[in-house]
Amino acid sequence: MKLIALPSDPLIGISGVPGDKSISHRAALFGALANGESSFENYLVAGVTQTMLQALTSLGVKWALHKRRLTIIGEGLESWQEPAGSIDCRNSGTTMRLLAGALSATGTAAVLDGSPGLRRRPMDRVITPLQMMEVPISASTGDKAPLRLKSRSSFYPLRGIDFILPVASAQVKTAIMLAALAADSPTTIHEPGASRDHTERMLTSMGAKISIPPNQDQFTVTISPLSQNPLTPLNMNIPGDFSSSSFLIVAALITPGSEIILQNVGLNPTRTGLLDVLMAMGADIKITRLDEQFGEPTGDIEIRHSHLQGIDVNGDLVVRMIDEFPVFAIAAATADGCTIVSDAAELRHKESDRISVLCRNLNTLNIQVREKPDGFSIEGGSGFSGGRIQAHGDHRMAMAFSVAGLVAESPVTISGAEMIDESFPGFVKSFNSLGAGIKKVR
Ligand code: S3P
Repeated sequence: MKLIALPSDPLIGISGVPGDKSISHRAALFGALANGESSFENYLVAGVTQTMLQALTSLGVKWALHKRRLTIIGEGLESWQEPAGSIDCRNSGTTMRLLAGALSATGTAAVLDGSPGLRRRPMDRVITPLQMMEVPISASTGDKAPLRLKSRSSFYPLRGIDFILPVASAQVKTAIMLAALAADSPTTIHEPGASRDHTERMLTSMGAKISIPPNQDQFTVTISPLSQNPLTPLNMNIPGDFSSSSFLIVAALITPGSEIILQNVGLNPTRTGLLDVLMAMGADIKITRLDEQFGEPTGDIEIRHSHLQGIDVNGDLVVRMIDEFPVFAIAAATADGCTIVSDAAELRHKESDRISVLCRNLNTLNIQVREKPDGFSIEGGSGFSGGRIQAHGDHRMAMAFSVAGLVAESPVTISGAEMIDESFPGFVKSFNSLGAGIKKVR
């Protein structure tokens, strides 16, 4: 599918965004490990979460989805069955890495496979710590998927470890934390930055013993084994996905005359680095109705069109906005002056090589951009030309360049836009209901 994004009238109005992807993944998986029935409202019904649910079905887990309400019946760590064939994680790194941790805890034999794109992404980052914990896991080719896990008797607990993550990653941290539930002693994980902490919040609500030192310089978490205490089921209303809201936030900031409100969005500080950066660039953004729901901060975000200044982004901040760089680059291209992103080499290991694809696509729209090994620099303010863009199998690339099309001189056509349904079903409808003109073309 192609999208054609046309130069837009101001975006005006009130909107919501679909449920958070990271929390929805964890909801299904953690519910499947608990003892009893968990229930989640505003669950994200999209490609990536469907992948996780199908994987759980193949492991014998029972669940039901009514509109956006997920009910999942957990029967504890020892209830999972060996799947008949390999589990297809499709394009979802979160599904593969989180499942690797969960399967380590349950001791279920399985093969985790995925799309050619997922087979190219690094998996040594989960294999190494899990092997240190004595999980019988290996990769078929080097450090890449398919991953094979052999069965393990619950009589033999895994080994608790003290592990330093070379790159901050919530996916890897979560995999280790899940395996640690079935270990013989506590496991401590140190990260170089503050990766998203939904796992810590949700597992704590489910009765797991997790400690985080106050005022830490290093980002450290310790998790104890469950021993004889099962995870208790969880009932939760999943907040709107901040990462999905970021496309609407940037669209309203850069489209003259815009004024929108996004309701009930997740505002977990480990996710909202983009807000800090945009505000430092001069963005008129206000948070209202700040609340905490089921352990996660939420609120409404009010955004008005603003003149932005270029900025440098590096260090810890990069982790707190790791999924937002495609749309941040669109904002930076409209800002006055230069924007420099550094310390972001991790972007090369996402659904696409986001540094290289971003630079090529920006170039196509006549933006002056320079690729660096760990980021990019953008000379802002010259305006987007129209043009034809490839999503390169990356949902966030397709959405970011649709936003660019709203303020380009002439239409921007995005090929491979069907990927958007992986994380933001209703993307076009949400934009057009606020006044944008984005067309779907088969
Ligand atoms: C995710 C963590 C991030 C993020 C991904 C979802 C998660 O990956 O990019 O979209 O749900 O844990 P890393 O933790 O590997 O950076």
